[in-house]
Amino acid sequence: MFKIIHAEFLAPGVKRFVIEAPRIARKQRPGQFVILRIYEEGERIPVTIENSDPERGTVNIVVQSAGKTTQLLNSLNAGDQILDVVGPLGKPSEIANYGTVVVVGGGVGTAMAYPTAAALKRAGNRVISIVGARNKELVILEPEMRAVSDALMITTDDGSYADKGFVTDKLRQLIENGTRIDMVVAVGPIVMMRAVAEMTRRENIHTVVSLNPIMIDGTGMCGGCRVLIDGKSEFACVDGPEFDAHKVDFAVLVQRNSMYRDAEQRSLAEYHRCRTESPTREVENAVVAVPPGQQGAQR
Ligand code: NAD
Ligand code: FES
Repeated sequence: MFKIIHAEFLAPGVKRFVIEAPRIARKQRPGQFVILRIYEEGERIPVTIENSDPERGTVNIVVQSAGKTTQLLNSLNAGDQILDVVGPLGKPSEIANYGTVVVVGGGVGTAMAYPTAAALKRAGNRVISIVGARNKELVILEPEMRAVSDALMITTDDGSYADKGFVTDKLRQLIENGTRIDMVVAVGPIVMMRAVAEMTRRENIHTVVSLNPIMIDGTGMCGGCRVLIDGKSEFACVDGPEFDAHKVDFAVLVQRNSMYRDAEQRSLAEYHRCRTESPTREVENAVVAVPPGQQGAQR
């Protein structure tokens, strides 16, 4: 059991949990993630590690309410327990002094981009960060990103905060005004990562994206997280989650991530029905016919 010692909403539907997990806190490196399960028959979901504190033995995870399990998770609070948290999983980000690195965080993907931006800054890079969200309320980790960036640009799709537009508008401006960019790291929705990859491919700028396919065991055994990289199958949980953006087959990623959409929606509807009919037994009652891991990936 892993105890939640602090929980707070960073934005509507996006919650940060500080959990007691000393072994994970000691081993975690930027770019890695955990897979957790809330109750015995529950599905396993991959979740972003936003930070860790080896001395306190705590790990910060960020969860966006999307399906049944993430909504259930986001209803937990300090003092509650999570059944299992497995990790850290995945290969850490490759941190070196590249020169000038642009770190792009789209929506909740910013939580995954933040530790990598911090490590790149510590390694001596000039870090230019671009953070985008649909609206002002959904901008997360602004002070944290500012603290590790030489420059921070913020966009909102509706213009309710900072500059109106997508993160790619800022990236295009940087390219057009001749800013030297040695590398781009992008984490966020697939459409955003694909748009970043197309833009930087034209400029021949090395670009890394963190992929978020459906995951089940996180050990390279089940094949659930298969992605196509340079025409070859790789497993995001052990070979990634970060890959060269110019080699990723985004069409396959989109197609595989939507495979269980109907089942996810049925599961979520059943969860809401159970909560309405029997709010105190929501966990047990919400178990329906969605196999483990087949809910939309968190990261
Ligand atoms: P969102 O849909 O609100 O988009 C966030 C930002 O991405 C937008 O504000 C915009 O700036 C940019 N964006 C969106 N569509 C774009 C397009 N077509 N072209 C250019 N830029 C575009 O994001 P959200 O709802 O906060 O994020 C949810 C998604 O992020 C989920 O699918 C989740 O799985 C994914 N995610 C990925 C990781 C990862 O490791 N890859 C980590 C966390 C979350
Ligand atoms: Fe099973 Fe990656 S999650 S192989």
